Amino acid sequence: MELKEVVKEKYGQAALRVSAGGSSCCGASAALDGCCDPITSNLYDATKTGELPQEAVLASLGCGNPTALAQLNPGETVLDLGSGGGIDVLLSARRVGPTGKAYGLDMTDEMLALARENQRKAGVQNVEFLKGEIEHIPLPDNTVDVIISNCVINLSGDKDRVLREAFRVLKPGGRFAVSDVVTSGAVPADVRENMLLWVGCIAGELGDYEYVAKLAKAGFGDIEIEPTRVYNIEDARTFLSGQGVDIDAIAPQVEGKFMSAFLRATKPASCGAQGCSGTSFSGKSTT
Ligand SMILES: C[S@@+](CC[C@H](N)C(=O)[O-])C[C@H]1O[C@@H](n2cnc3c(N)ncnc32)[C@H](O)[C@@H]1O
Repeated sequence: MELKEVVKEKYGQAALRVSAGGSSCCGASAALDGCCDPITSNLYDATKTGELPQEAVLASLGCGNPTALAQLNPGETVLDLGSGGGIDVLLSARRVGPTGKAYGLDMTDEMLALARENQRKAGVQNVEFLKGEIEHIPLPDNTVDVIISNCVINLSGDKDRVLREAFRVLKPGGRFAVSDVVTSGAVPADVRENMLLWVGCIAGELGDYEYVAKLAKAGFGDIEIEPTRVYNIEDARTFLSGQGVDIDAIAPQVEGKFMSAFLRATKPASCGAQGCSGTSFSGKSTT
């Protein structure tokens, strides 16, 4: 099956589990107790999520809390790439207030249905969930102040395209404020495969330098990566032992290398609808 179809199926099932009152956990880790720990657990401050529908909180499948780290101002337009059950969209909507707007974009019908139901329960008006792919964002150029995303870009088979699209829809001076899984340093292919199986439903990742390079290639400036949670081999012991992996043998190759991180970047203020003045970069998607 094509990667996108696998992703849709997995997250569609996760959405249905939440709608039926179960856990959002999916993939290889679903069989384990406390399966979402330590990646998706305890990311949000209960005082911030207290007013949200329980299903929105339960559906959280992120690996960070971009709304806590992003600067969001009243009146701004926010776009969440891969919005899932909508937790970060609903939190953003509150931050940008009635004069602002929060869009969620997701390709999975079941997730969109769950997110729209959560919006209805939350009684929030300044939110719109869009169906579509993060590789083809269904919004015009230069219309978004802040792009957020929570553990989604790593799932795309064309991360360059996603970053070009994010750049295209951001206004000049717009901010990219994203949580994602990254690796730091060299990791042998088999170790990477096992760890990523543990990390999420189906996850890819980018090396930290690779992510920075791709953001720069898309046209972004002021790029920063801030690790928010570094994973320990002990966190994965039960799962990986069950897969027949010799934990003690791979431990030295894992320590300090797999993490969730917050990525910040800015679309230069000089990049408008006609491209970026003073550079040859057009800021437009080329494919
Ligand atoms: C790991 S979940 C994260 C959901 C949400 N951001 C959160 O923090 O709970 C990934 C979500 O991204 C969506 N997704 C994955 N790849 C996508 C793509 N290429 N285009 C649009 N949505 C995508 C999935 O349908 C799913 O809802």
